[in-house]
Amino acid sequence: MPSFVEGASEIALAAGSLLRYFFERRVQFEMKGDYDLVTEADRASEKLVVEKLRELFPCHSIVAEEGGGLETGSDYRWYVDPLDGTTNFAHGYPAWNVTLALEKAGELIAGVVFDPVRGELFAAELGAGAFMNGRRLNVSKASRIAESLLCTGFPNHNRQTNPNIHYFHELAMSAHGVRRGGSAGIDLAYVAAGRLDGFWEFGLSPWDMAAGILLIQEAGGVCSDMANRTHHLKSPHLLADNGLLHGELLAAFESISKGDFRHPMPTPYAL
Ligand code: IPD
Ligand code: CA
Ligand code: CA
Repeated sequence: MPSFVEGASEIALAAGSLLRYFFERRVQFEMKGDYDLVTEADRASEKLVVEKLRELFPCHSIVAEEGGGLETGSDYRWYVDPLDGTTNFAHGYPAWNVTLALEKAGELIAGVVFDPVRGELFAAELGAGAFMNGRRLNVSKASRIAESLLCTGFPNHNRQTNPNIHYFHELAMSAHGVRRGGSAGIDLAYVAAGRLDGFWEFGLSPWDMAAGILLIQEAGGVCSDMANRTHHLKSPHLLADNGLLHGELLAAFESISKGDFRHPMPTPYAL
């Protein structure tokens, strides 16, 4: 039997090839919520991942975004996002991934994020480090927001109730820049790889972030919610960074949450 991370990597590579096939042919999308897209590629990838997980680890429970999982009562539970970044994918924008992670009795122990467009496989195992295509990953050394490149995301569901644009505005005025990549798995993997210094999002699902959290922790970074409470997968609000920025980011979130906007919205252009 392969190790958990080997099994997950093998499955992610197979799902990634399938997703590339669909990507090159541009698939139709359907709406599963007001602004929430789904495609036949999401479903086909999920079917492949779940079938392969059941072959390799038949006793394990599986939670999969499109509903194809199963509960076995096992202490081992996989979180599967068969296509993370569906909106990008459906528009032909090349930033999406397949990600899966394993939790044992509530603790993340293995996770992978595969980006088939760049051929980058990010993999982490608890206590054994984080790697990209076999090369060890370390978080960045930026120690001030003023010298950082940050990234965030906006969920597709209930987006009219999401306050993130205010945080985006404030932090974009303070950092070198704030990216919105559109695929949380890659965004988090990039924090682990030191390509981004920090990431946050309000309203993530466990399958969006499970592998990314382990990658960041194993690469020397820190994950919590925006009030520095210990992060667990049931908590949808994630602040993840290289550790050196954590204190300053927490202070920024606290002051923005209190309505202390240091950079008020400028007067709109008169058109
Ligand atoms: C979405 C992406 C996006 C994030 C959303 C997620 P999906 O995942 O990761 O970057 O901002 O919150 O829902 O729906 O494409 O799997
Ligand atoms: Ca996702
Ligand atoms: Ca998805």
